Amino acid sequence: MIKIGIIGVGTVGESVAQILEANRDIITARAGKEIVVKKGVVRNLSKPRNINIPLTTDADEVLDDPEIDIVVELMGGVEEPYRVVQKALQNGKAVVTANKALLAYHRYELQETAGDIPFEFEASVAGGIPIIKSLREGLSANHIESIKGIINGTANYILTKMMNEGVDFAPVLKEAQELGYAEADPTFDIGGFDAAHKLLILASIAYGIDAKPEDILIEGIEQITQDDISFAKEFGYTIKLLGIAKKVGECVELRVHPALVPQSEMIAKVDGVMNGISVIGDKVGETMYYGPGAGGNATASAVISDIIAIARGGKASPMLGFKRALESGLKLLNRDE
Ligand code: NAP
Ligand code: HSE
Repeated sequence: MIKIGIIGVGTVGESVAQILEANRDIITARAGKEIVVKKGVVRNLSKPRNINIPLTTDADEVLDDPEIDIVVELMGGVEEPYRVVQKALQNGKAVVTANKALLAYHRYELQETAGDIPFEFEASVAGGIPIIKSLREGLSANHIESIKGIINGTANYILTKMMNEGVDFAPVLKEAQELGYAEADPTFDIGGFDAAHKLLILASIAYGIDAKPEDILIEGIEQITQDDISFAKEFGYTIKLLGIAKKVGECVELRVHPALVPQSEMIAKVDGVMNGISVIGDKVGETMYYGPGAGGNATASAVISDIIAIARGGKASPMLGFKRALESGLKLLNRDE
């Protein structure tokens, strides 16, 4: 039996607990052992919840519990999750997180603390799409030429509704929040910062780039109007918020911004909360990944895939985690170049 503690039992944490219960049979079979949630951590114990697990407000109860094997960090933010994940790893517990903001700032330090202890983060990029495992494992024979795609579900949901239904920005953002897609602070979604966090994670895996969000060009969708959308449509384009990582000589260019995408391209057809990512490897050519980019169940599906991999004894090969300066020696292209 594997015992886990879930720190943060909100949209994603609640879905993790529910799916572990609902799909217990196949999860146990695939993990090779039963996975039990020993405790969840929340801020407010009196909030109504659709789960039946013991709750506390004290994360240290989980971190100091010698029976807990895996800490699942799903609280959001950067500082407290950093403390929680560092302490969990220092206490020898495996960690699974969906927290891209945390990883955008502290991925290398956390990877170093982890050493041989499993530290997994599939859900941190593109919700339910197994893009991290694809990059780390499926494409590991390739030099990655580029990664380009829609990696924020909320922004894509808003742009799609503005484009297809002519609705205004504000009410659609509210809808995305109610559906559990948006970050606690939705300016991360609409300002392009969440996409930048994810892009940095992908670029670390593909290129070993050690950059922070402040080092790259980030533009959000707040300025996009119905006039821009009509104009784009008239000329056969759609507007998408893209995250782009591209090898340029010995450098890697990283940027997030809205772009005009020809309606004939596959990325243009990725609508609503869906994410779509094109990865070009030097040997495989172009590969495409499509699926739900946000939401409780989609994200929990990725979180649980990490829990199962850890329970099976699987561990990321060291070269496939966050390692600074891969043998490629690639550097970040100055954002002003
Ligand atoms: P959420 O609904 O806001 O849930 C956060 C949970 O953490 C809540 O249970 C909250 O307690 C608890 N919490 C927050 N701060 C805490 C603290 N200081 N001490 C104890 N508990 C604390 O967030 P979410 O949407 O599930 O997202 C969780 C993480 O997953 C974030 O890092 C997010 O970026 C990431 N993520 C989310 C999605 C998505 O689609 N939602 C997708 C991919 C990744 P209360 O319930 O008492 O408030
Ligand atoms: N707020 C994020 C999004 C959640 O909308 O894509 C998934 O990472």
